[in-house]
Amino acid sequence: MDMTNDRWEYTSDYMKRVFGRQDAHLSNLMTRAVESGLPDIAVSADVGRLLLLLTSLTRACTALEIGTLGGYSGIWIARGLQPGGRLITVEAERKHADFAQQQFETAGVADRVDLRLGKALDVLPDIATELGEASLDVVFLDAIKVEYPDYWRAVCPLIKPGGLILADNVLGGGSWWIDNEDDASRNAADEFNRLVADDPDFESVAVPLRQGVLIGRRMR
Ligand SMILES: C[S@@+](CC[C@H](N)C(=O)[O-])C[C@H]1O[C@@H](n2cnc3c(N)ncnc32)[C@H](O)[C@@H]1O
Repeated sequence: MDMTNDRWEYTSDYMKRVFGRQDAHLSNLMTRAVESGLPDIAVSADVGRLLLLLTSLTRACTALEIGTLGGYSGIWIARGLQPGGRLITVEAERKHADFAQQQFETAGVADRVDLRLGKALDVLPDIATELGEASLDVVFLDAIKVEYPDYWRAVCPLIKPGGLILADNVLGGGSWWIDNEDDASRNAADEFNRLVADDPDFESVAVPLRQGVLIGRRMR
C-alpha cells in the first residue's frame, strides 16, 4: 500500500492518540503557554515520550537542550534523567525562559534543570569550557533550523561515547518539508542530517515521527 497525504495525517494522529499519554501538567502546558503569548511550536507528546525513553535508556546523567520554549520537551527529558542528573537548557527569549522556569518548578523538576538565557551559538562556547569534552549523555537540538550544522559542530565534541545526539524537525517544519529544495531551513536540516549520518564515530537514523527526529549515537 502506498503512503498518501490522508494516510500520513491519519498515521500522525494515530501515533499521538496511542502513544501520546501525558499527565495533566504536560497536557495543559502549551495551552497556558499560548495564552501567555508563546508560539505553539513544542514537540508533540509522542516525540516527548521518545525523548524520555532515549534519555532513560542511555541512563543519562547530563543532558543539553537547545531551544527551551515553555519547557515542554525539557520536562520530558528531565523525567528520563538518572537520580541526581542535570539538564542544561538554552533559550534566547527571556519571556520563554521565564515561563519555562515556572513550568520546571510546578512540574517538580527545577532541581535538575539549569536554564541558560542566551543565543545558543553565544553560550555554547562557555558551556563547552565548563563541561569539557565527552561530558554529555544526551543533546537535543530544537532551536533555529538554519543553525543546526553550527550547533552540531559545537556540541559534537561534548558527546560521550555511548551518548546521543537528538534533533527535531529534521524532515520538516511549519513552512517547509525535506522535498522543498529552495528553503533555507530545509537545506540546513539536510546539511545537518548528512553531517551526522556521515560521521564515522556515530550511528544515526531519522524517524518520521511528526516532523522527523534524528537519533545518533556516538559509537567511539
Ligand atoms: C521549536 S521551539 C522549542 C520547543 C521546545 N523544545 C519544546 O518542544 O517544548 C524553539 C525555541 O528556540 C528558541 N530560540 C530561537 N533562537 C534561538 C537561539 N539562537 N538560541 C537558543 N534558543 C533559540 C525560540 O525562542 C524558541 O523558544
